Amino acid sequence: MRTLITSSYRTAAELLGKNHPVAFPTETVYGLGANAFESDAVKKIFTAKGRPSDNPLIVHVGSREDVPSVISSMPVYAERLFDAFSPGPLTLVLPKNKRISPLVTAGLKTVGVRIPDHRVAQKFLKACGVPVAAPSANLSGSPSPTTWQAVRQDLNGRIPCILKGDPSRVGLESTVVDCTGASPVILRAGGITLEELRGIVPSTRLHKQQTNVPKSPGMKYRHYSPLAYVFIVSSMEETVPMKSAAYIGLHTTRGASFGAKRICRNEKEYARALFRFFRECDAQGIQTIYCEQVSESGIGLALMDRIRKAAWQ
Ligand code: TXA
Ligand code: MG
Repeated sequence: MRTLITSSYRTAAELLGKNHPVAFPTETVYGLGANAFESDAVKKIFTAKGRPSDNPLIVHVGSREDVPSVISSMPVYAERLFDAFSPGPLTLVLPKNKRISPLVTAGLKTVGVRIPDHRVAQKFLKACGVPVAAPSANLSGSPSPTTWQAVRQDLNGRIPCILKGDPSRVGLESTVVDCTGASPVILRAGGITLEELRGIVPSTRLHKQQTNVPKSPGMKYRHYSPLAYVFIVSSMEETVPMKSAAYIGLHTTRGASFGAKRICRNEKEYARALFRFFRECDAQGIQTIYCEQVSESGIGLALMDRIRKAAWQ
């Protein structure tokens, strides 16, 4: 299959309207979208990514008015979270609308819904005119793509279209919040922080992962992994600087000669750079990536979650 790479959101939306999967930019990472009402279209996403079919997809809409076509009800606290952080990197898990394909939700009665805060994504979604189910546009298991080139690297020849945009501003996926109980529960840390959510709904808490029954099916899969081995270090002394190794963190590694090195100004920049750095290291044949540990507050919580998942061996 030839993969069309285009800047035209109209062309991309037309292809989606014909039940083809289309990759598109968002502020978190690039997504691979299909009409969430059409099982035939959604099926193609799982095939292109090599994704297990028991891991549900997030449904994207362009504006608040489109949300009722995805869900069937919303508690008051969820409305307040949506008012505060949408459009933005926040996904709310709510009871599903029966029109949404069961393939999207992997048979669950709930669905994740999100409004991306991205100019091209919004135009594309409005032109599609239907809710768009979209996981990250990478091959299952590899780091999420934060550039259209990363999408091409993983999915060229496997999907008919990539809608081009700028590199993703956040660089990590959205925060997934379960809104089906008495108070919000974070299933996946992401672009909106625990502190920010608590500023609106103070009872928001983190999900304690259970080993057997993952509340968010995605929790049980290994994710975000580069080919290289990832090690978490708290200081320079724990690294072995050499050409086949790389370093990413906040503090400079004076005198050390790594094959690749990225010193970020703060946690936000670290989050934005991480997945791209993983991919650059793989392209360069780096064998070991040292990631500096950061404090798990603010965006640091999501950042350490992704680094830890990449480091699982
Ligand atoms: O930022 C993002 O969220 C990106 C962009 C493209 O929007 N999307 C993304 O999708 O990261 P994906 O498929 O890679 O991750 C979706 C996560 C998974 O952990 C999945 O298990 C969880 O959301 N999820 C989706 N629907 C759910 C549901 N009904 N109940 C619980 N968890 C759900
Ligand atoms: Mg993903």
